[in-house]
Amino acid sequence: MTGTIELAPGAAGLAVDSWAWPLTGALAGALAGALVGRDTELAVIGEFLRRAGGRALILTGEPGVGKTALLDAAAEQSASAGIAVLRASGVESETGVPFAGLHQIFAPLAEEFGGLSGPHRAALTVALGFSSGPAPDHLLVCNATLTLVRSVSQARPLLLVVDDLHWLDQASAVVLGFLARRLAGTTAGLLAAALPYEPGSFMRTGLAELELRPLDEAAASRLMSSAFPLLPARTRQRLLAQARGNPLALLELPRVLGEHGHQPTGALGTVLPLGRRLRKSTRRGWLNCRSGRGTRC
Ligand SMILES: Nc1ncnc2c1ncn2[C@@H]1O[C@H](COP(=O)(O)OP(=O)(O)OP(=O)(O)O)[C@@H](O)[C@H]1O
Ligand SMILES: [Mg+2]
Repeated sequence: MTGTIELAPGAAGLAVDSWAWPLTGALAGALAGALVGRDTELAVIGEFLRRAGGRALILTGEPGVGKTALLDAAAEQSASAGIAVLRASGVESETGVPFAGLHQIFAPLAEEFGGLSGPHRAALTVALGFSSGPAPDHLLVCNATLTLVRSVSQARPLLLVVDDLHWLDQASAVVLGFLARRLAGTTAGLLAAALPYEPGSFMRTGLAELELRPLDEAAASRLMSSAFPLLPARTRQRLLAQARGNPLALLELPRVLGEHGHQPTGALGTVLPLGRRLRKSTRRGWLNCRSGRGTRC
C-alpha cells in the first residue's frame, strides 16, 4: 500500500460524509474466506465503498497480484447492498476503437439518454455509435457523461468499476478521468484497476491510489497450501520462492507443473514451466518469470 490513502476531496463546502452509501457490514468480514491475506486492502476498499459517493479509487499492482479479484469482491458486495454497479474493462483489441470502453460501461443506461439536453444526447449517442454524425467534441462527451451519472445516481447510488485501465482506448480514458475528478457532490463513485506503469496513467492524475503489494510469506504459503494441499514440502518451498507472493504465480506454477506430468516425488528442473498468463506477462516485460531459481515472478 502507498501509506495513508487519501481519498479524493469533496468540492469546497460540501460535506462528503453525508453521501454515505447503504453498505452494510464490513467488506473485510464478508470476504475474509475468499481472498487470502488481503484484510488490510479489503478494509480500505470497504471504507472507500461506504463513502464512495463523490470519490474515486484506483487499485494498482503488477499482473496477477489480485486487482480483478478485489474489484469483483467490491462489485459483488456493493450490488448486494443495493448499489447500482456498472462495469467495464479495457480490452487490448479495442484500444484503437474510440469510446469502446465508454460504450461498455454506459450502454446499459441507453434508456436514460433521453433525459439529456439535445447537444449532450447527440454527442453521447454518436460517441457510443448509437447514431451517426460528425465525431463529437470530447468536452461535450465528458459533460454529457457527467450529467448522465449525476442524474442516474440521484435515484440510486452508483458504482462504476473499470478494470485494466491500461487497455482502455484513449478517448474513454479521457472521459472517465474527467468524470472521476468531478464526482464530488454526487452519489456515484469510481473504483478502477491498472498496472502501475502502463500508458493511460494520465487518467489517474489527481486520483487516490491503493497499491497492491504481493502477499506476505504467511499468506502466500496459506494460499498455495489451500489450493494444492498435497504438494511435497520441497516442491512447495521452491514454488513459493519462485512466486514471491504473486497470487497468480502461486496458483499457476503448481497447476502447470502438474499438467507437465511432474510427479510429486520428482526433482524440479532449473526452469519451471509457465502457464498462459505468466508467459504473456513475461513476454511483455511486465513480470520476469523467464528462468529458474530466484527469478522475479
Ligand atoms: N488474495 C487472494 N486470495 C486468493 N486468490 C487470489 C487472491 N488474489 C488473487 N487471487 C487469484 O489469483 C489470480 C490472479 O488474480 P487477478 O486476476 O485478480 O490478478 P490481476 O492483478 O487482476 O492480474 P492482471 O493484471 O493480469 O489482470 C486469480 O485466479 C485470482 O482469483
Ligand atoms: Mg486483472
